Amino acid sequence: MITMINFIITYVSTVLVLYYTYVFGLCLLFHPLRKYRGPLAARVSYAYSGYFALKRNLHLKIHETHSELGPVVRLAPDRLVFNTIEALRDIYQNEKITKSHVYTEAQQGQHNVFITTDKAKHRPKRRLIGRVLSEQSMRVFEPTMKELIDRFLKQLLLSNRGPVNMTHTCRYLGLDIAGQLGFGYDLKLQTEDTNRFLTDILSLGSFRINLYMQFPLMAKVRPELLMGLFPSQPRQKFMGVVKTMISSRLAQPSDAKQDLLSVFKDKANIDIENIKQEELWTEALFFFPAGGETTATAMAACFFYLSRNPECYQTLVEEIRTTFNSGAKIHNGPRLAGCRYLRACIDESLRMCPPAPGTLWREPVAEYKNQPFVVDGHVVPPGTQVGVNIYSLHHNEKYFPNSFEFQPERWLGDNKDMVHKAFAAFSIGSRGCAGKAMAYHEVSLVLAKTLWYFDFEVAPGKIGELGAGKPGIAGARGRQGEFQVYDTFSASHDGPNLVFHPRDDLCNELV
Ligand code: HEM
Repeated sequence: MITMINFIITYVSTVLVLYYTYVFGLCLLFHPLRKYRGPLAARVSYAYSGYFALKRNLHLKIHETHSELGPVVRLAPDRLVFNTIEALRDIYQNEKITKSHVYTEAQQGQHNVFITTDKAKHRPKRRLIGRVLSEQSMRVFEPTMKELIDRFLKQLLLSNRGPVNMTHTCRYLGLDIAGQLGFGYDLKLQTEDTNRFLTDILSLGSFRINLYMQFPLMAKVRPELLMGLFPSQPRQKFMGVVKTMISSRLAQPSDAKQDLLSVFKDKANIDIENIKQEELWTEALFFFPAGGETTATAMAACFFYLSRNPECYQTLVEEIRTTFNSGAKIHNGPRLAGCRYLRACIDESLRMCPPAPGTLWREPVAEYKNQPFVVDGHVVPPGTQVGVNIYSLHHNEKYFPNSFEFQPERWLGDNKDMVHKAFAAFSIGSRGCAGKAMAYHEVSLVLAKTLWYFDFEVAPGKIGELGAGKPGIAGARGRQGEFQVYDTFSASHDGPNLVFHPRDDLCNELV
């Protein structure tokens, strides 16, 4: 019996050794990407990216790798990641290139605007979403957004000069806005506990999808089914909330609100019993993280950097308090749009802390999949996935000198053209963010109104350090003074803890 077991072990080990020698040999010596440099483990296996995706710091690892090996690195056997403006343009503004198949594989059963790779199928979806995010739509939505921002300001007032964790506060606001914009539904995350569990579900979902995209084998194996890593009960609860939101909105007339449901409802008779079969369902599931989590990161990052850069803070305070003469009058319009320093602070925060810090993988569309294509002068062989890592591009010293310093002035100076070209927080091209205008609108209003009603500063003591990178651990866990984000497709974070001081009796307006 023992001899038999020994034989099986020896046999299996030999087969495995031979198999991996063959695979590694192919990847290193004969693969069309063999001339590209990259960490050895990455060149032979997806497990490398999977490991850092698990640790949630793949963005930092890629930045470190670019710093060591240059602007093109091989991050997986068939993946190249670039770090130049030219590559950004060649990949994302190229009609022959579309989203990688890993988008659909990571989110099986979904077919929303975000993951649809087929260009002909994507176009009508994008048009439909565009109707909710149009200029006209934003004007109609403004009073609702204002109401939710007022709620945010009231929460700051109620904090009574105690510490406020801006990750939580901004997420509640961002998701409350997404709830109204998507479903005309008041989630009340800012004021009530009931639905706050949504934030954990969204974080977990985003982590899982990122893991699958970086390590596609996981999407096939689905380890969570075996290990109970992503329990189904909270997910069911999440689905229940989305269903409630949809059905309560469907009970109202289509034109009662300007939201995602209004553009769908006049398209088809939605069957609420079989809602998961409806196109609306899959769009709705994406709308939350897309519309809520991203803006929350943008806001938390702005608060973080302003609270730590007193000169920038003062310049912005002056701009806001001299442009407006009443908090109630701060709204979307030429005055707010004219606040150039405000916009520079937002862009600088998005640069340093992109809400999607990773690599948005792309590949040729089906008609061109057997042909090589050119990225920044490199002839890329068929079968290769390519991308630019947004965090790395935003910290490329060639475009952003002293890239780890918060310098809003770089967006206003002589170099601003190049700076804009190297900015990819919203990605670019036909698959760039559909909600960009809405996002700027939201973040600008929140910052301007907060600075009108309050002064703020870092919370005293140890809790004030929450969210800041630790000294001396660059690369692996972020840098000192940097807002520490984790790469889970969308960024996740905690803090900063700030203290808000109401300005004179201006806050009486909020009560
Ligand atoms: C600061 C805030 C935001 C940032 C940084 C951001 C960033 C991005 C990025 C990088 C993409 C491309 C993802 C990819 O290629 O895989 C994207 C796509 C998208 N975003 Fe945003 N986003 C923000 C806010 C919003 C908001 C507020 C909405 C809507 C309410 C929204 C809706 C969308 C949609 C629908 C897409 C998919 C577009 C398509 O594939 O055609 N985003 N966003």
